[in-house]
Amino acid sequence: MIGKLARLFKRAEPAILDAKPGDASALAALHRISFRHGWSETEFERLLADRGAIAHVARASGGRGPVLGFVLSHRVDFEAEILLVALAPSERGHGTATKLLAKHLARLAAAGVRRVFLEVDEGNRAARKLYARAGFEEVGRRAGYYRKPEGNAAALVLGRDLSA
Ligand SMILES: CC(C)(COP(=O)(O)OP(=O)(O)OC[C@H]1O[C@@H](n2cnc3c(N)ncnc32)[C@H](O)[C@@H]1OP(=O)(O)O)[C@@H](O)C(=O)NCCC(=O)NCCS
Repeated sequence: MIGKLARLFKRAEPAILDAKPGDASALAALHRISFRHGWSETEFERLLADRGAIAHVARASGGRGPVLGFVLSHRVDFEAEILLVALAPSERGHGTATKLLAKHLARLAAAGVRRVFLEVDEGNRAARKLYARAGFEEVGRRAGYYRKPEGNAAALVLGRDLSA
């Protein structure tokens, strides 16, 4: 009986899929709740339509449910920059961003990208752990880059080779 109940309440793994133009409003909603300055649906439509854009979403219920998270990169030749990674607050801490990032990096590598960069707030422990686990290393530091009411924070510039 307990086993049956546990199976009933077992968390259905989200599926990691290519982002579609129609995901723009879900991405804007996730961005709004994850970052201080939310970007609009129109901005996401424009970002997703850019020919350098590569984006993935995590969709609930094996891909049939709502968008729970996303990762968005911009690629130029052999380099890419990860612009955003965000998970719905209820979805955090289940390893979803780790899976999202792994699939995304594999896709970037398959597309011929050799080096990936990103910026992260030095105080963002979850994001720093996520990127360190994915093999990113610090390659630079921009002091006072993120302006916050509680005091400006440095941005760490992280990089990872995909060619190895
Ligand atoms: C950063 C973020 C994407 C991580 O997503 P997530 O699905 O919770 O990440 P995962 O569950 O895959 O965990 C990744 C690692 O971070 C750790 N972690 C997760 N939440 C944490 C927290 N609040 N504090 C410290 N470490 C944390 C996990 O333990 C895991 O490390 P491990 O592999 O050593 O166990 C998510 O917290 C988020 O959307 N934050 C708001 C937006 C943001 O800051 N994006 C990054 C901008 S650069």
